[in-house]
Amino acid sequence: MFAPDYPIRTERLLLRPIEAADAAPMLDYKADAENVRYVPYGPLTLAEIEERIATRWAGTRFEKQDDAVCLAVEERESGRLVGDVVLFWRSENDREGEVGYILDPRFSGRGYAAEAVAALLAVGFDGLGLHRIAARIDERNAASVRVVERLGFRREARLVESSWFKGEWTTLLIYALLEDEWRSSIIEG
Ligand SMILES: CC(C)(COP(=O)(O)OP(=O)(O)OC[C@H]1O[C@@H](n2cnc3c(N)ncnc32)[C@H](O)[C@@H]1OP(=O)(O)O)[C@@H](O)C(=O)NCCC(=O)NCCS
Repeated sequence: MFAPDYPIRTERLLLRPIEAADAAPMLDYKADAENVRYVPYGPLTLAEIEERIATRWAGTRFEKQDDAVCLAVEERESGRLVGDVVLFWRSENDREGEVGYILDPRFSGRGYAAEAVAALLAVGFDGLGLHRIAARIDERNAASVRVVERLGFRREARLVESSWFKGEWTTLLIYALLEDEWRSSIIEG
């Protein structure tokens, strides 16, 4: 079992459990078809967001494989919700996790996604003791590819039209980062 200490602070952001009051600001970026084009859900209505906050986005700690912790990402300076991130515990045996992330487009282009995911990597490797953290990205999602490449993830595979997703065949890129690669990237700065 592992439960991070909340809030998790980075230079400009704060990561904390998602609250009922986050539903309205989340609607701004989860009801937008373009913004959710490459994420596994949506576009979502306010009622759907509220239902998810009460259920699958409510987890704050890892107890067993398949648990996921979704965290709200707040701009420290303003207290505004800028997006949310998720860490899935995919396998206990393989000590594997997977990250997901989404920003309100009004807050993109500032490095917030990479900063928030970097904090999530520390939760996964240092906190949960993971060996490998992966990211699965639609190859058309160039902004997302830049986020993981900036964090040192290696591109491991390109699965051509492997997924029937939102009404079309999708080519997925598999990216991953191992614990020792992450530790040496931190030392190198
Ligand atoms: C994927 C997503 C989170 C990326 O957002 P983003 O704003 O491009 O990523 P970051 O917050 O890390 O910002 C990086 C950009 O900010 C720029 N930047 C500006 N100031 C910066 C700073 N102080 N530090 C770091 N980067 C900074 C970087 O140069 C970079 O720009 P570039 O990508 O044009 O080179 C966003 O596009 C999104 O929410 N998409 C919809 C949901 C989605 O597809 N999620 C991923 C599913 S796999």
